[in-house]
Amino acid sequence: MSQGFSTQRPQPPHFLTTADYTAEQLLDLVHRAIQFKVESKYNHPQPRTERPLTGKTMALVFSKRSTRTRVATETATAYLGGHAMFLGGQDIQLGVNESLLDTSRVVSSMVDGIMARVKGHEEIEMLAKESTVPVINALSDKYHPTQILADLMTIHEFVHHRNNNVTDRYTAHTQHPRETLKGLKVAWVGDANNILQEILVAFPKVGISVAAAAPPSYKCDDDVVAIAHADAEKTGATVTFTTKPEEAIKDADIIVTDTWVSMGQEEEKAKRLKEFEGYQVTMDLAKRGGAKENWVFMHCLPRKPEEVDDEVFYSDRSLVFPEAENRKWTILSVIDALMVRGGI
Ligand code: CP
Ligand code: NVA
Repeated sequence: MSQGFSTQRPQPPHFLTTADYTAEQLLDLVHRAIQFKVESKYNHPQPRTERPLTGKTMALVFSKRSTRTRVATETATAYLGGHAMFLGGQDIQLGVNESLLDTSRVVSSMVDGIMARVKGHEEIEMLAKESTVPVINALSDKYHPTQILADLMTIHEFVHHRNNNVTDRYTAHTQHPRETLKGLKVAWVGDANNILQEILVAFPKVGISVAAAAPPSYKCDDDVVAIAHADAEKTGATVTFTTKPEEAIKDADIIVTDTWVSMGQEEEKAKRLKEFEGYQVTMDLAKRGGAKENWVFMHCLPRKPEEVDDEVFYSDRSLVFPEAENRKWTILSVIDALMVRGGI
């Protein structure tokens, strides 16, 4: 029975994929993430006293494991004065005793924001549709938007410090990422997965070219490829696909990969390891492919040695640990935008 008041639900802002936002919106998010990093780590211009999420709760509804995204979200929420509540797949009724629809209506009626890690992308879309509070995609089988914001931030920091010859201090906050990212080339060597798909809808839009190598039967979704080509046409970036890692790597500034076996694909492990033979990122592969002399390496983590060997992973070329830390600052920026400022 109706309670006698309107059941119309407000439509809050969400962050489900970077494809929904313009280059300027994404780069401003990254720029603010960098300001948060400087403010928190270096007290610049002064330590934060404002805690705008005091008394507010962020629910983390995670149906898959997580280290980085979980720690980043919990610490970012705390930094803004809020409370983070982790609801793992083993803990709540979701998917076992209760549908996603009912879960999102119930959870969103009691919290102020939801960070959700799901399986199919339609799950996060449904959650957002039913939620009365902002929903952030913490990874779906199709996209991983907060990861790719951290990647943009990491590339900006690297390029800024290299171009300005700064090795002894952090100055990335003195430049906007719209000035550093255009014209770079990223080579992807690996699976046609959620990380590559998010790269494809974000990087060409900000002027970064993408060349992706994946084995023959591994292909990105048609809609993702169409977005990448349309964005590239507008910015002058290029987007190419190949089955030969060496071809993708030619003239690359950055080589990126990820696991060959994503969460949920464990049963395909043996088949995948065989089909990805020759795709391991090594110094030799980078040399054979003709990457730029000062190429760097990125990986969202967690990493398995089959996709990148220790020599590259632990080398000076590897940006993987700053990249992981930047998950915190970029997620903080997204939370600030959605839950404090009211939109991206
Ligand atoms: N890169 C990333 O999302 O890591 P977690 O799965 O540990 O959150
Ligand atoms: N492609 C990986 C990314 C993990 C952060 C997965 O979906 O498992």
